This record gives sequence, structure tokens and C-alpha cells, in this order.
Amino acid sequence: MTEGAPKHVIIGITGGIAAYKAMTLIRLFKSAGCEVKVVATTNALEFVTPLTIETLSQNALYCDTFKRSEQFDVHHISHADWADCMIVAPASADIIGKMANGIADDALSTLLLAIKKPLFIAPAMNNKMYANEAVQRNLATLQQQGCHIIGPAEGFLACGTTGKGRMEEPEKIFDDVMGYFSKDLPLKGKRALVTAGPTYEPIDPVRFIGNHSSGKMGFALAEVLADKGADVTLVTGPTVQTTQQSHIHRVDVTTAAQMYEACLKYSADADIIIMSAAVADYTPAAPAPEKIKKNDSSLQLELVKTTDILASLGKNKRDGQYIVGFALETENELANAQTKLHNKNLDFIVLNSTKTPKSGFNYDTNQVTIIDRDGKITPFDLQDKHKVAQNIVDHLIAKF
Ligand code: CTP
Repeated sequence: MTEGAPKHVIIGITGGIAAYKAMTLIRLFKSAGCEVKVVATTNALEFVTPLTIETLSQNALYCDTFKRSEQFDVHHISHADWADCMIVAPASADIIGKMANGIADDALSTLLLAIKKPLFIAPAMNNKMYANEAVQRNLATLQQQGCHIIGPAEGFLACGTTGKGRMEEPEKIFDDVMGYFSKDLPLKGKRALVTAGPTYEPIDPVRFIGNHSSGKMGFALAEVLADKGADVTLVTGPTVQTTQQSHIHRVDVTTAAQMYEACLKYSADADIIIMSAAVADYTPAAPAPEKIKKNDSSLQLELVKTTDILASLGKNKRDGQYIVGFALETENELANAQTKLHNKNLDFIVLNSTKTPKSGFNYDTNQVTIIDRDGKITPFDLQDKHKVAQNIVDHLIAKF
């Protein structure tokens, strides 16, 4: 989850056809790791069912369909304390009027009066209603009170006309809310390219040359960068790793040549590049089109060198771009890593220890040493790969 992102989100739903889009909004916040509670008006439940809402949010629905005594239930007030933010989507002209004038006559409006957390509303109504003076006055009042108004958009309206009044798309509402919470993050607005995992170089249609890289280190780095606000492109070789971070754009590749092509495409825009993939240094010169039969007692394979992706990106490094590489050494570790740092034109290099038990390929832990261009050496203890990723990204932020 992005650092500073809301953990507890309340979605208020009012009566309007766009209520069905609020279901996608629930899904988006759930997918981002937020806990979601929904408060709906009785009219909203004409458009979407409690079962749908509860199944998607995995929480009990609060609404005003129960006895009137329910509307002052302290649970609704405790919701206001529980929430990190609240979003009313769709927000009808009715709820906008109530909010602007302090009216509390059902569960949703009561909660809205009690909440003191960042509040977002996504108006949705007919274009003439939206243009109405009273609605505009109420929206202006809400804005003065610090309420964030998202949309509405122009377009086709449920009543058959076209105009301004359509609820903004759930993805835009989600992005605006998350953007509000991530605006102070250190890597906000930065683009990062990360590589992860092994590459597989085909020998024939069923065999390949690969390595033991699990992709864990690269995925952890991509997640920490995204948590710090960066938009990350993660180019990964074959791996079972997954990520739910919505700011990570995953690009799957198989071979070193495909990884190179993807890196060329995404490096131009990248402010930060971290190459943690274990890229094959050699690939079969001519992969066999059919499965190779075991006719002879031995088999000779001709291998040709792959492009060194990191060296190529380092050569074309542009001003302001920050490039980090990894080094895996079994002897003369520091000296070899330092040579790679300079030959590949890196800002710093992360030396993976092959000597420390439980460090490196396929482990959940890693023991690394960071070497800077000026020769400064920073060793770290054996740590969980997520913590290692945090140390690397913190080092980068301090330099960036
Ligand atoms: N790397 C790369 N493209 C390659 C090989 C390596 O981008 N074809 C990158 C790796 O992702 C890593 C760095 O270069 O960030 C160093 O990789 P490493 O395997 O330690 O060293 P090599 O440069 O391949 O040299 P050697 O295998 O001889 O140690």
C-alpha cells in the first residue's frame, strides 16, 4: 500500500444511476489494500443491492432502511472516527444540499455531519439540475469548507441528453483520492524502471538456459518505489511473483533480448532505473525450431553474447537520470563491483553477497553492500528482501 494512503475508506452512495459505478470504486479501494465501509441512502438501494455492496466491501452495509431509531445509532458516529477519508459517489443534488446546510436526517447525512476527515464528493445529476443556482451555491459552500469536489464530467446522461452532470469514472475518483494522500511522498511524480527475475534463453521449443533468480528482490524494489510515490514499470522475466500495487505497470518478458527491448522503450522516460534482473550473458546462437533428439553421445551448443542492458542504458544516461545496478560476485567482490559501477556508468551498485548463508537467489533474505561512485561503502546486515529494498530506495532518495 502506498505510504500515507488511507487504510479505512467510507464510501457514501446516494440514489442515482451512477450508483452502479460505485461498485467499481469499492473494488478499486479494496484492491489497493484499503478496508471499505459503505453507507447508502434508501434511494441508492433502488439501484444497487445490499448483497452486492456487502460482498464487494466485505463489511456490513449501513443504511437508513432500518427503524428510525437506527439513524442516531452511535455506530454511525464511530464510523466518523474509524475513517481516514470519505467519498460520496454518486453525490445527488439532495445530499449536496443537505451537506451544505447541515441537515442530518438519515444515516449518510448524519455521518457526513460528524466526519472531520478528508471528504470527497463526485456529483452526478442531470445537466440542468447541476447548473441550478442552488446546487452551484451549495457546491461553492462545500468547497469553501474544504470538501474536494471531483467532476462531474460532460457526456451522455441517463435521462437521454448530453451535458455536464455525469459522475466521473471510478478510476478517476480513485486516482484523485489516492493522489491527494500521496502528494507529499518523496518520489511523487517520478518514473522508475525496475527489472526483476531471470531470463530464459531458448535452446529448442521445450528447453532453455535459465538461472535461479526468483524475482523477489526486483518485486520488493518496485513495491517500495511505488509506496514512496513513484510510477513504476516493472520489466520481469519468468517468475511466480505477483504484486497488487496499483502504481506498478508490469511488463512480462522471457529472453534477454526481449528485456533489452522493453528497457529501451521504458528507459527514455525513467528518472530512476534499477536493474536487479539476472540477465543471461549468453544465448544459443540458433535455437532449434524442433525438439533436439538425443542422437549423439554429446551435444555442442554455440552461445553468443547478449547485450549488456545496464551498460547500454548507462551509456545513454541522460541528465537527471539515476541508474542503479546489482553485482553478483564470488571473488574479489568489492573490486569487481567497483569496476562494474564505473564501466556501466552507474550512480551506485548493490553488491550481493554469495558468502553469507541465506543470501541471494531464491531466499527471502539478502545481505548487500552499497558502493557509491565516490567510493563510499555501506554494508547492511542480512535482512528480509523488503527491508533490503527499503534501504536501497532510502539510499537513492537521499542522493536523488
Ligand atoms: N546486466 C544487464 N544485462 C546483461 C547482464 C547483466 O543489464 N546482459 C545487469 C544486471 O541486471 C546487474 C548488472 O548488470 O544489474 C551486473 O550483473 P552481473 O551478472 O553481476 O555481472 P555481468 O555484468 O553480467 O558480469 P559477470 O557475469 O562477468 O560478472
